[in-house]
Amino acid sequence: MIPDPPDPNPLRDAQDRRLPQIAGPCGMVIFGVTGDLSRKKLMPAIYDLANRGLLPPGFSLVGFARRDWAHQDFAKIVHDAVKEYSRTDYREEVWKQLAKGFRFVPGDFSDDVAFAQLRDTIEDLDRERGTAGNHAFYLSIPPRFFPNVIGQLKEHGLAEDRPGAWRRVVVEKPFGHDLKSAQDLNNIVSQVFPPEAVFRIDHYLGKETVQNILALRFANQLFEPVWNANYVDHVQITMAEDIGIGGRAGYYDGIGAARDVIQNHLVQLMALTAMEEPTSFDAQSLRTEKQKVLRSVQLPDDLELDTSRGQYAAGWAGGEKVKGFLDEEDIPKSSTTETFAAIKLEIDTRRWAGVPFYLRHGKRLGRRVTEVAVIFKRAPHLPFTRTATEELGQNALVIRVQPDEGVTLRFGSKVPSTAMEIRDVNMDFAYGGAFVESSPEAYERLILDVLLGEPPLFPQHEEVELSWRILDPILEHWAQRGKPEPYPSGTWGPASADEMLARDGRVWRRP
Ligand code: BG6
Repeated sequence: MIPDPPDPNPLRDAQDRRLPQIAGPCGMVIFGVTGDLSRKKLMPAIYDLANRGLLPPGFSLVGFARRDWAHQDFAKIVHDAVKEYSRTDYREEVWKQLAKGFRFVPGDFSDDVAFAQLRDTIEDLDRERGTAGNHAFYLSIPPRFFPNVIGQLKEHGLAEDRPGAWRRVVVEKPFGHDLKSAQDLNNIVSQVFPPEAVFRIDHYLGKETVQNILALRFANQLFEPVWNANYVDHVQITMAEDIGIGGRAGYYDGIGAARDVIQNHLVQLMALTAMEEPTSFDAQSLRTEKQKVLRSVQLPDDLELDTSRGQYAAGWAGGEKVKGFLDEEDIPKSSTTETFAAIKLEIDTRRWAGVPFYLRHGKRLGRRVTEVAVIFKRAPHLPFTRTATEELGQNALVIRVQPDEGVTLRFGSKVPSTAMEIRDVNMDFAYGGAFVESSPEAYERLILDVLLGEPPLFPQHEEVELSWRILDPILEHWAQRGKPEPYPSGTWGPASADEMLARDGRVWRRP
């Protein structure tokens, strides 16, 4: 018999990493359980995980809010949310098993009695459902309440690890609203929870297509040799939404597009696109490489010309007339909050010197699309007549984050005819066509990772600080400039965004 060849990677994990891991005994407490995020994302994701068999049988979910609810009322709220928003099919037996672990604790964040009741509830769950002292506290609440909640968790002994058991805290963005407030927030959290127990959610990092950026770059030989300033002309990272702010005026006004999306989601996408290959995919190696990119970011010399900010005016969305931002409910007419932001950044490294990264995000734009487009330089020489290549653009590799997830490669091809005429064509990979599995929701992946204690997809405080260091000067500049430029809903943002690229001899993609 021929012996097996030696394993080329003897250090490979003994466990087959294709199999999803199941969380051990544990529970989760959600603060802010009446909010939109909780109903539309967290509760459905917990059900989806249970449905996929990835939660332990005794998993328990405790809701904490200022509502006069009994456990059954809470269960009904979760049930409705699951029915409406979960990704996987509804199965009564899964629901029944999951719902046995639901508890509700009424109270507000300064209510000592309520936190004492929360402690008792958790201890009961440990006894009744075998949650073994392992609990994650999910703060789906505005950051101004963090000091209260974190302080209460400490006061009532809820934050301490017990022998053989863990306590973790999950915080949602915004992580502060500038560098200083992010540092303050971090001080509050870190006084009570050690760094390895803090899970900061940037839900873009939980998206399959975002994780695929690393697979595409580092699992293939094809792309990395051209992934640098020798071949890349510029990179455009777009997160466009067709929706307005909906009922989120309270959150959005004073925050705006740059703080809401660019500081976190788009800066993370840029870091993944630009970073060097990590030595492994563990949290520390990934963070080290991302941080190197963020430290190398250079702001444009002229913050006026190389940034753009806008505010949606009345217009059209999905064939319907929609109102402008200043006419949205609870938005003051004098609001200077931007709903569109575009910025140009450069990364001062050998790999990226001279390659602009353009980041743009807006609400009420032409359509919903998130993509990373790497646009290549033109060929140095074209052995064709000018007329033959009139319709030839630049090669591009576009990572389609959503919707219509996939990757497109654009290159020139001869138009069939007797003449030589070259035009752009697209080669497409679509998740739907290549895989039978549907992608899990970002929150499924992230909640499971919290319960497993897997940190790679969660930004550390250093990354958050570094991204505020990038954004702060831009935000300060804008604060002195008064009102953002209006753009009609349904268009692609203000004229200044187009002018910003036109000055560099480039145009925004219209995905
Ligand atoms: C959130 C922002 O982080 O991301 C919202 O606060 C935005 O304003 C949302 O609408 C978009 O998420 P997704 O996953 O739908 O692209």
